[in-house]
Amino acid sequence: MTKLTERKLYDVQAPNSSTGIILGESSNVLNWDDVRFSWAYPLYKNMLGNFWTPFEINMSSDAKQFADLSETEEEAFKKIIGLLAFLDSIQTDYAMHVSKYLTDSSLNALMTVLAFQEVVHNQSYSYVLSSLVNKDEQDEIFEYWKHDPILRERNDFIAEGYEAFINNPTPRTLLESIVYDVILEGLNFYSGFSFFYHLARNQKMVSTSTMINYINRDEQLHVFLFANLFKELRREFPELQTEEVDDFVQRTFIHAAELEIKWANHIIGEKIPEIPINDLENYIKFMANKRVNELGIERPFEGHRSNPMKWIKVYEDVNQGKTDFFEQKSRQYTKVSEDNGFDDL
Ligand SMILES: [Fe+2]
Ligand SMILES: [Fe+2]
Repeated sequence: MTKLTERKLYDVQAPNSSTGIILGESSNVLNWDDVRFSWAYPLYKNMLGNFWTPFEINMSSDAKQFADLSETEEEAFKKIIGLLAFLDSIQTDYAMHVSKYLTDSSLNALMTVLAFQEVVHNQSYSYVLSSLVNKDEQDEIFEYWKHDPILRERNDFIAEGYEAFINNPTPRTLLESIVYDVILEGLNFYSGFSFFYHLARNQKMVSTSTMINYINRDEQLHVFLFANLFKELRREFPELQTEEVDDFVQRTFIHAAELEIKWANHIIGEKIPEIPINDLENYIKFMANKRVNELGIERPFEGHRSNPMKWIKVYEDVNQGKTDFFEQKSRQYTKVSEDNGFDDL
């Protein structure tokens, strides 16, 4: 298949509104009122509307509570942070690789904002850890991803999917790497998120959970961006609109869900009765179904159409905090008071 070519710095012959996502023509000038995709600007506004930084979150009560966590909770806390630090680090770089080949200035702009947000996510893990543990321990937590075998298996799975594209950029490898992306941003984070929302539900580590919640909110928009890229790519390249690709997506998600379940058993297992492992497994399958459906493909798991851990929903929507802990505590940290408008997209 055709090799992808990098976007030109500028092109006086080409229109400002590009002629294609990849391998197209684009002057590379960005005029938000003259772009190819109608969803791009609303998404840009939403991403900027969600702007936050770790500096605005006060860690003092978490620092006191951290000492009172059970051994299991503390271990899960540190391992999940270690995992997220890896995922967000490579995500920044992956987004920049994809960006090089997008022959559309508005999509490049969105990818740049996405990459910037991943940098902020990463900073938040250093910020959290530096307020809870000493420097040596923090450094050690940032090494977990290298040595924990279950973590490695799961992370290598994603990284290899990304590398296949980076080493040989074609429309097909790009499309496949987006599947790994949606797994990373839309499935892999979720057992980690559930753990932090469980703590928050018990009024523990509320500031950390608030940060996790902001990250979760950003990730939802990132999934939206990549899912749109996936669908537009298939529209522009009908040779990618095959059953074989559908099959690849379903198989890859099934594999990813298995690895996520293995990780969930490792990190949570039977140790936290309020997160029954059975529910967590069903939640992972539900999320996998949801993501594959967002890619416009039939869901891979039979059933699993509804969220078995409904309480998570309350914590996912930071700006609709309802009655739980966000009402009393983290709302004071919420900068954007209005609804993020994502549903209006
Ligand atoms: Fe992220
Ligand atoms: Fe992301």
